[in-house]
Amino acid sequence: MKLQRKIFALLLLMSFTAVAAAQTVTRQDYGKTSTGEYVYLYTLQNSHGLEAKITNYGGILVSLKVPDRNRKFADVVLGFNDLESYLTKNDPYMGALIGRYGNRIAKGRFTLNGVEYKLAVNNGENHLHGGIKGFDKVVWTGREIKTGTSPAVALTYLSKDGEEGYPGNLNVRVVYTLTDENELKIDYTATTDKDTVLNLTHHSYFNLAGEGNGDILNHLVSINANQFVPTDAGSIPTGELKNVAGTPFDFINPTAIGARINQDDEQLKFGNGYDHTWVINGKPGTMRVAAEAYEATSGRIMRVLTTEPGVQFYTGNFLNGTLTGKSGTVYARRTGFCFETQHYPDSPNQPSFPTTTLKKGQTYKSTTIYRFSVKR
Ligand code: GAL
Repeated sequence: MKLQRKIFALLLLMSFTAVAAAQTVTRQDYGKTSTGEYVYLYTLQNSHGLEAKITNYGGILVSLKVPDRNRKFADVVLGFNDLESYLTKNDPYMGALIGRYGNRIAKGRFTLNGVEYKLAVNNGENHLHGGIKGFDKVVWTGREIKTGTSPAVALTYLSKDGEEGYPGNLNVRVVYTLTDENELKIDYTATTDKDTVLNLTHHSYFNLAGEGNGDILNHLVSINANQFVPTDAGSIPTGELKNVAGTPFDFINPTAIGARINQDDEQLKFGNGYDHTWVINGKPGTMRVAAEAYEATSGRIMRVLTTEPGVQFYTGNFLNGTLTGKSGTVYARRTGFCFETQHYPDSPNQPSFPTTTLKKGQTYKSTTIYRFSVKR
């Protein structure tokens, strides 16, 4: 009886705490860039106590605290403690917004309306993630907003005609919203004054056991895709789409990331592990489940939904222990994984892939949701 009363009191307290947590968005100073631009940190909190911290430098998701099955909160994204680290460490796009083109463009070249454009070559002989100074390294204009009951921050950026070699003045707007359904929702819109190519994404490294808490090989992952995009040794698509059935790329049923990652498979060798785009089942442009990850010790589940045609599943193969993260832990190989929702790599040079051309007068629209829950 005593125990029952205690449990009841505890439950009551928990429900009060849940109700008491305010849905807020606040802004604090986060420092300055080397050229004196002011940078801020926006904190979004929903009524269940989930909290996302986002900076307008690179649109980086600095931390994301979500509960486990015992309502114990942990930060599930890799990153650093201060702006200085993001500015000076050669970090592999942790938590950042990626543009103008997420993923690779072969040899940094493409032709649009009969004109050949030359982009920075910053990944072997190819162009990666927007070039030398992509959207992950620029200062966006931030504004706190409240859409209904959900706290949000809107980030806008004008990428000038010719920036990193891309045509057109491009106006980009990205809204991060923390919903009361425990979702981090990212809405992207953009317009241009000249035809261009565009492929925006978000590059958080997740570890559902908590950042700095070991590798991600035991996470069970499912990907809603019957096909993936095979590449050459430089991670440029061959142009075909390959069925996942019978390969280590079949994640139709939940499978541990580590179960097949070291198999003797040419594509796994090219990617150094998983580093490929999966072709999400269903109609691009409509919201559908892309992937899910489950971490058994915490019970945390993350489900990814998107309007994009593909998702790059990258298993942190290039993390090599040279970066020390927020909790003072070294980020070793495969201690975080990314679900980068996007179009396929090198689409500007692949006529059979869904187009990444954004025409003057059109509006680019894309939405991705990272939804959190627990399994008891
Ligand atoms: C990923 C990409 C990887 C690697 C990583 C950054 O998005 O697919 O190949 O470049 O970013 O280290």
